[in-house]
Amino acid sequence: MRKKIVAGNWKMNKNREETTRLISELKTAIQKSDAEVIIAPTFVNLAESLGELKGSFIQVSAQNMHFAESGAYTGEISADMLKSIGVSTVILGHSERRAYFGEDDALLAKKVDAALKAGMRIIFCFGEELDQRKSGDHFKVVESQLKNALFHLKGDAWKNIVLAFEPVWAIGTGETASPEQAQEMHAFIRKTLTEAYDSGIAEGVSILYGGSVKPGNAEEIFSKADVDGGLIGGASLVAADFAAIVAAAG
Ligand code: PGA
Repeated sequence: MRKKIVAGNWKMNKNREETTRLISELKTAIQKSDAEVIIAPTFVNLAESLGELKGSFIQVSAQNMHFAESGAYTGEISADMLKSIGVSTVILGHSERRAYFGEDDALLAKKVDAALKAGMRIIFCFGEELDQRKSGDHFKVVESQLKNALFHLKGDAWKNIVLAFEPVWAIGTGETASPEQAQEMHAFIRKTLTEAYDSGIAEGVSILYGGSVKPGNAEEIFSKADVDGGLIGGASLVAADFAAIVAAAG
C-alpha cells in the first residue's frame, strides 16, 4: 500500500531562531501520525533542523539542489552535500523554481538523475497554470511535464519518487483545486503512469496535492482515492495548522 505523506515546504521563510522555535512547536503538536511527515526548511537551517529533530519521526527535506556533483557553480548545493549532513529527500520542480529561476523540464531531468544517482528520494512538483486550465490543456501540460522530466527513468527508480501535483493557480492564492479536480488529475496521472510503465508502479507511487491546503479543506482533499497527502506551503509555517493537516491525513 502506498504511503500517505504530508510535507511542509517552508520556502524562503524562517531564520535560524524561528526555525528552531517552529520545530519545537511541531514536536509538541505532532507526536505521532500514520502519515510520513516531512519539513523542508531553507538550506542554511537543514543541519540545525536535523539536530532538533533527532529522535523525532518528522523528517527533513531540501527544497532544491544542483545537478552537478561539484564544481564552479557559485551559490549552488549538490546532492552529495545534502547527503553528507543527513538529508536524503529533495523537492524538485517547484513552480516557483520553474517561474522565477527558469527551471525547465530538461534541467529538471538532469536534477532528477543526479538526485537518484546520489540515492536521494525526490518530491517532484508539477502542475498547470491558470490559462492552461482555462483552455482545457491541463492534462496535456501535466502529461508533458511528467514525460519530459521523469519518463526516461527505469521502473525501479520510481520507488524513490513522490509526485506532487500543484496547480500553479492554487499556490499561495487561497484558491484550492476542488477535491474533485484534484482526484480527477491524480487519477489521470496514475493512468498516464500505467501506460508509460505498468499498474504496479502507478499504484505504488504516492501522489500529493499542493496548493492552498489548509486545516479546513485538508480532510476532504485527502479523502479522495488517489490523493496520498499534501505538499503544504503557507500553512506549514504555523505549527497548529500543519499539525491539523497532518491529522487530516490520518
Ligand atoms: P501553498 O503552497 O500551500 O502556500 O499554496 C504550496 C506549495 O507551494 O507547495
